[in-house]
Amino acid sequence: MRIAIASDHAGFEQKQQLVAFLKGLGHEVRDLGPDSDERVDYPDYAVPVAHAVASGEADRGVLICGTGIGMALAADKVAGVRACAITSPEFADLARRHNDLNVITLSGRFVSLDANERILKVFLASEFEGGRHARRVAKIMELDQTEKVRKAAAPNVTPIRQSSLAEQIDAALDAKFGPVQKPAK
Ligand code: RB5
Repeated sequence: MRIAIASDHAGFEQKQQLVAFLKGLGHEVRDLGPDSDERVDYPDYAVPVAHAVASGEADRGVLICGTGIGMALAADKVAGVRACAITSPEFADLARRHNDLNVITLSGRFVSLDANERILKVFLASEFEGGRHARRVAKIMELDQTEKVRKAAAPNVTPIRQSSLAEQIDAALDAKFGPVQKPAK
């Protein structure tokens, strides 16, 4: 599998070990930095990994920061990415089977290297189940488009429920410009 990996300073030490671990498992690993444990801002490293996965250059992404939380928040903003902080093999398995997680974020400060290795093994081995989960994941991915359009057209409108892309666009445009006059038949 082609894997893009990065960390911040808090995840640097584990990142170095995890790169070696993943290569040892036979994966093609692209290390997107950093090269030292000097203090950095985690979004600067989350986004290149997220882009590599979203563009298809990498099959999966791995990010390590202090908690895994900041990396998840940043990476998940990138369209096409489903990123989450994972701290157990059980959640890694479910996040793959039910949510088709494509970027995993790990804690370098609160989870041991050994535990993170087990989590990664499961993340890379478990397959998405599809079926009813595919419908739900598709609804999540629709948000990449609809939320962008809604914010741009009507920043103060909060949708009551998520609906189809076309309905979202119509509602946002109506809210900004008023309802479109339908020609009399
Ligand atoms: C850095 O101190 C820390 O905030 C970062 O590694 C991460 O845990 C953020 O979510």
